[in-house]
Amino acid sequence: MRCLNVLILPVPSASSITVTVTGIAEFVAGIFRSTQQQTLILMSSLTLQSKFKLSDGNEIPVLGFGDSVVRFVFVKIVPMQFIGTYELDGQDAYKSVMWALEVNTHCKPYDHCIAHTDTLQAGYRHIDSAEWYENERECGRAIQDFCAETGTPRAEIFYTTKLKNNAGVAATRKAIRKSLAECGLGYIDLYLIHGPWGGPQARKDAWEAIVEAQKEGIVKSIGISTFGVGHMRELLETGLPAPAVHQIDLHPFMTRSEIVKFSTEHGMTLEAWGSLARGMRMKHPYILELATKYRKQPAHIFLRYSLQKGFVPLVKSSSQNRIIDNTHIFDFELSTEEVVQLDSSNENLVTDWDPTDSP
Ligand SMILES: NC(=O)c1ccc[n+]([C@@H]2O[C@H](COP(=O)([O-])OP(=O)(O)OC[C@H]3O[C@@H](n4cnc5c(N)ncnc54)[C@H](OP(=O)(O)O)[C@@H]3O)[C@@H](O)[C@H]2O)c1
Repeated sequence: MRCLNVLILPVPSASSITVTVTGIAEFVAGIFRSTQQQTLILMSSLTLQSKFKLSDGNEIPVLGFGDSVVRFVFVKIVPMQFIGTYELDGQDAYKSVMWALEVNTHCKPYDHCIAHTDTLQAGYRHIDSAEWYENERECGRAIQDFCAETGTPRAEIFYTTKLKNNAGVAATRKAIRKSLAECGLGYIDLYLIHGPWGGPQARKDAWEAIVEAQKEGIVKSIGISTFGVGHMRELLETGLPAPAVHQIDLHPFMTRSEIVKFSTEHGMTLEAWGSLARGMRMKHPYILELATKYRKQPAHIFLRYSLQKGFVPLVKSSSQNRIIDNTHIFDFELSTEEVVQLDSSNENLVTDWDPTDSP
């Protein structure tokens, strides 16, 4: 097994560090090509303020807060595949994003929830929303209020949203503008095709409009979500620019090695949704063993694994304590062997939906 020690460059103007993933991606791709082995990334100097560099030159904070919650029953959209519909309703979405961005001074309307606000802080700078979650307005408003109240520049927050329907170029243009208006943030940091449904032409049309929006500057970085290798290959063959990000379910019980390999080889940074396996394997013996060894919570083992794989974990919680606690993953490091062992726990566990084989 090969390990990488990642080059970490100081950013002069900030206390953050930037990990040059563009270079790493090439290096990783080289390793994949030469050895076909899983590659581990050891990042002992990462902090919550660290960012990965995307293939388009933009930077993405290494830990994201996902603002979705299962609200409705599952909806069947294609044979044998099911999609959970998400929404954190207005006030909850606003509150959770505020908690994620900062805690101690920004939860005054929610004082009843907080006993010790002076000592509690989260500090995420990366918020993941979607047209589908129906909370873009609340996420945007929380970010705007947070920035206004703290003097934090908008540019310090990374905001993602996603296209719900792949319904043609014109419909996608309209959807992007609607998402932009909903969040009120002036631009969207990352815009994703939420899923590969609709067939090749629908995906190409959506992508064309998204590329156009990036050229216009209303969207900074662009990507895909939950695509299979076939979907990615076909999109690349259109000759349109490649996605910079691929957001997909990744955790020790769903490692998706072929998709990870293909995405990485084509310069895509992987965002891991369901990075906690939706809580379904918190009591797995090896997770518990590592949690005991490092005196950490099981959730920390999941999130640290994700970071060390070079992914950007997205983590969701509706609990203030957990939102904060889930950031405590930068003070320990799993060994190479432990990450390999976690990889071997793969059981292709689908925690929500899996359209990677859809037409
Ligand atoms: N692109 C896509 O298709 C897609 C699909 C799904 C999700 N996502 C994104 O990824 C984000 C995260 O994914 P996810 O919500 O599916 O799953 P997740 O983050 O793996 O799991 C969330 C679950 O874990 C629980 N949890 C959180 N912190 C915990 C802790 N420290 N200990 C124990 N349990 C904990 C939460 O419960 P509590 O709320 O009770 O804390 C919630 O039930 C979403 O919010 C969304 O932004 C994207």
